[in-house]
Amino acid sequence: MLIKVPPKSALREAQTTSESAYVSRRSVIKGLGAGIGGLLLSGNTGAVDLFGDGVEGGASEATPRKPLQFSPQRPAPDLVLTPVDKVTNHNNFYEFGTGKTDPAKYSQGFKTEPWTLRVEGEVEKPGTVDVWKLMSDIGLEERIYRMRCVEAWSMVIPWVGFELGKFLQRFQPTSRAKYVAFETVYDPEQMPGQRNRYVGGGVHYPYVEGLRMDEAMHPLTILSVGLYGKTLPPQNGAPIRLVVPWKYGFKGIKSIVKITLVEKMPPTSWNKLAPNEYGFYANVNPDVDHPRWSQASERFIGPGGLFSVKRQPTLPFNGYGEEVASLYKNMDLRKFY
Ligand code: MTE
Repeated sequence: MLIKVPPKSALREAQTTSESAYVSRRSVIKGLGAGIGGLLLSGNTGAVDLFGDGVEGGASEATPRKPLQFSPQRPAPDLVLTPVDKVTNHNNFYEFGTGKTDPAKYSQGFKTEPWTLRVEGEVEKPGTVDVWKLMSDIGLEERIYRMRCVEAWSMVIPWVGFELGKFLQRFQPTSRAKYVAFETVYDPEQMPGQRNRYVGGGVHYPYVEGLRMDEAMHPLTILSVGLYGKTLPPQNGAPIRLVVPWKYGFKGIKSIVKITLVEKMPPTSWNKLAPNEYGFYANVNPDVDHPRWSQASERFIGPGGLFSVKRQPTLPFNGYGEEVASLYKNMDLRKFY
């Protein structure tokens, strides 16, 4: 799939229609058989994800989302969208609890405005950016991407954002910049998981993630500030989060406050917690199973109720192999999982 930069347009259809109309207009019904089951990401809790629990009709949108101006993706990929209430009520954001509906419940009122993002390290021009100003200046675009969680569920989400690579160029990376390290806000007063190991799933906070420089500069990699045409709700990582569509969802660090360009591979939260289960690369790979479950297929969370959940084969690089496989040529993907 090639990403074409779509023509600019003043009004996005999601700004003028309801989100359900957005879904039905965008959706094409397809998929394979049904299935349920699965495990939570954390090895610490050992808890079972009772799939469907709160997927629909969880917390209401208590933090109002603002409409965004952006260029729609044209042509839109032929993918069934996950309805907005599922995208925003079935989340992983351990700072707000380990249950799938905890983030929607406990992040409402999370203060995301004002918000600054610091870019530093191996750059000629380090700087601090006002994220809300950036949203109106930078020229946002829609990216409809598959999202595959390492827990073997998936969604299709219409993000709004901009290319990370173009953004990083502003700070003039030096030749020593080999990796990019990301950091989530540390704010235990607002994030119950950061002050309580049980609520926070044992993760050492702040949550950190990283990419190799060429992965960060790849045009598919975006910083997202919105979904379904409006700003991100707190549970999805407001006001700014990473989206790397060919990698497992845990690479998509939320509520970012700092980006540091570095020479050496930076530590990443899930790798620190369980290095044999979660690698630095985390490329979606149906041929390399998680030590505790198969990665060959996934439960697609699409339109409809619990029994409409589709089990479908997982695609190498989550279906983006044509664009990104060359980044990993000559690498043993079993070793570098
Ligand atoms: N970022 C932070 N700061 N904390 C988290 O717990 N969870 C990750 C990722 N980013 C997480 C995070 C995981 S495991 C996944 S699957 C995705 O966010 C989920 O994104 P979503 O809730 O928007 O679907």
